Amino acid sequence: MTLLVTGGAGFIGSNFIFYILERRPEYRVVCLDKLTYAGRRDTLAAVMERPGFRFVQADICDRGAVNRLFEEERPDAVVNFAAESHVDRSIDAPEVFLQTNVLGTAVLMDACRTHGLARFHQVSTDEVYGDLPLDRPDLLFTEASPLRASSPYSASKASGDLLALAYHRTYGLPVTISRCSNNYGPYQFAEKLIPLMISRALEDRPLPVYGQGLNVRDWLYVEDHCRAIDLILRRGKPGGVYNVGGRCEMRNIDIVKLICRELGKPDSLIAYVEDRKGHDLRYAIDPSRIQNELGWTPETGFQDGIRRTIRWYAERRDWREGDFPWEE
Ligand SMILES: NC(=O)c1ccc[n+]([C@@H]2O[C@H](COP(=O)([O-])OP(=O)(O)OC[C@H]3O[C@@H](n4cnc5c(N)ncnc54)[C@H](O)[C@@H]3O)[C@@H](O)[C@H]2O)c1
Repeated sequence: MTLLVTGGAGFIGSNFIFYILERRPEYRVVCLDKLTYAGRRDTLAAVMERPGFRFVQADICDRGAVNRLFEEERPDAVVNFAAESHVDRSIDAPEVFLQTNVLGTAVLMDACRTHGLARFHQVSTDEVYGDLPLDRPDLLFTEASPLRASSPYSASKASGDLLALAYHRTYGLPVTISRCSNNYGPYQFAEKLIPLMISRALEDRPLPVYGQGLNVRDWLYVEDHCRAIDLILRRGKPGGVYNVGGRCEMRNIDIVKLICRELGKPDSLIAYVEDRKGHDLRYAIDPSRIQNELGWTPETGFQDGIRRTIRWYAERRDWREGDFPWEE
């Protein structure tokens, strides 16, 4: 089994590569990554020299490079993590999101069609469903909910999903899609909420919180997401969409306060900043399908996962710097 993992030098992709190399030593894993600002070659340093692993720096939009790699490696399956992933950046400059998240996905799927792969797995997000009101905790998105993306980022991911389902219907490409809630854990670039707050709290710097911090997200430890993708790859139904979520809804402000508590820092570090444009209020998904069909459930609770994450960032000073919009 040769598995091509695109975007494997980023946050979830690198965690997925570590997960697969450890649990499926019989697989050959090839990582294709452009190494944008969000991808770091040294993230993969521990596995770079390992037999059965190969790293290739390339852009998923580069049809020639993608086809050459398919010719050389003849992968059995592709897991596509490669994406522009930060909502704030998509608000400032949407175009690259359309290129990578839509056109890049099409380039990969065209190569899969030509080479007759057993599976193309598209890693998507719960953000494709848009948001839910804060005062209706009974409402959850299912796989049948309409796509109502709010940001250029989520619209580009929804477009990638629609295209993947169209390739399944039109060409019979064996596609699966996972729509996961917010991930946290090691190797996440410090522009995202949890690593940003940990980094800043560790250095006693202001903790910028959008609006009043009342937005609700469903959180999942990254390894649980990796396990879900591995299961879908092996046992998911072609054409199937699977919501992956932790049933762990938290308000942003409560997460920031929890991080302060864990690190022994005062809440006075919190600085409320002007809200993000079009900020989604609440994301919440129903993961019953993957639970019932594939027997997946999250294994890491939030309290345990956040402690592990805080410890990791406390030890990894090199992961605390970043070029985010509110940099002083
Ligand atoms: N982080 C989350 O909470 C979350 C939740 C649900 C879904 N997702 C999805 O999971 C996937 C991975 O997210 P992440 O948080 O690991 O992202 P990330 O930004 O940390 O990593 C993205 C990786 O893709 C690479 N990349 C970007 N453009 C590329 C291109 N054109 N060609 C090749 N490589 C390219 C980058 O170099 C980087 O290594 C994304 O598709 C995202 O939409 C993320």
